[in-house]
Amino acid sequence: MDHLDRVAEEFTRQAETFSAYAAVAGGNVIARFQEEIAEVAAGKILDVACGPGAVTATLAEKAESITAFDATPAMLEQARKRCDDAGLRNVSFEQGAAEHMPFGDATFDGAVTRLALHHFVDPKIVLGEIFRVLRPGGLLVIADVVVSEDEKDAALQNAIEIIRDPSHIRMLPLPELNASVEGTGFRIQSGATWDASREFEEWMGIVNDPQRLVPLRTVARALAEAGRDAGMGLSILDDQLVFFHRWVMITARKPE
Ligand SMILES: C[S@@+](CC[C@H](N)C(=O)[O-])C[C@H]1O[C@@H](n2cnc3c(N)ncnc32)[C@H](O)[C@@H]1O
Repeated sequence: MDHLDRVAEEFTRQAETFSAYAAVAGGNVIARFQEEIAEVAAGKILDVACGPGAVTATLAEKAESITAFDATPAMLEQARKRCDDAGLRNVSFEQGAAEHMPFGDATFDGAVTRLALHHFVDPKIVLGEIFRVLRPGGLLVIADVVVSEDEKDAALQNAIEIIRDPSHIRMLPLPELNASVEGTGFRIQSGATWDASREFEEWMGIVNDPQRLVPLRTVARALAEAGRDAGMGLSILDDQLVFFHRWVMITARKPE
């Protein structure tokens, strides 16, 4: 199956469950986007792999215009509904692949992307596309989850994530993510990391596929009982399987 078909299949099934989670994903990450994008917030903004538009709708409050871009029509429908319900009139919705976006060079003042880089087959290609469509001096704000710098833990966490959702390609360790952003030509202005606690059953509920739940729960519980935390704090607390996602937010500028 083509990877983009897999993405569309997964996120069509997850559209409603993910939309419900999107407002709280990563704690106060949406407020952080507002702060980091502030310099260009009144301009033309692009939300790459916008999903159900939770980030889009908040940034639309200040933007001249915002383009919500995603591969999955069901996600764009969720985004449209969220923006319509909020009475926003400055949002346009475009479906397509982030690897080749239908926008001219230097179209946008700012770009954001949340929880998406780990779904791209080659994130460097998408970063290159974002670099192309941003104007010189434009800002990119990325928020994503990263893996441990320990290779074995990283491989284990990525394996768990792929079993949960096969459209997951690879969460990167932070140094590799930073190097990918800088390697594209961006200059990193700031970076922050924080851990968000997760509860295994709630996390599995978002993928909305009961068939995956029992086998993955069995494997994750066995790992936790054996003391293998996969670099993600996998453990049992009050008989509940818990872990954390390590979030990173990177703000980078396309040089003038
Ligand atoms: C985990 S969701 C995140 C959605 C949104 N950014 C948020 O944080 O609420 C990932 C989104 O990336 C989209 N996506 C994955 N790969 C893509 C690609 N190559 N091009 C465009 N969209 C893609 C999926 O359709 C999905 O809506």
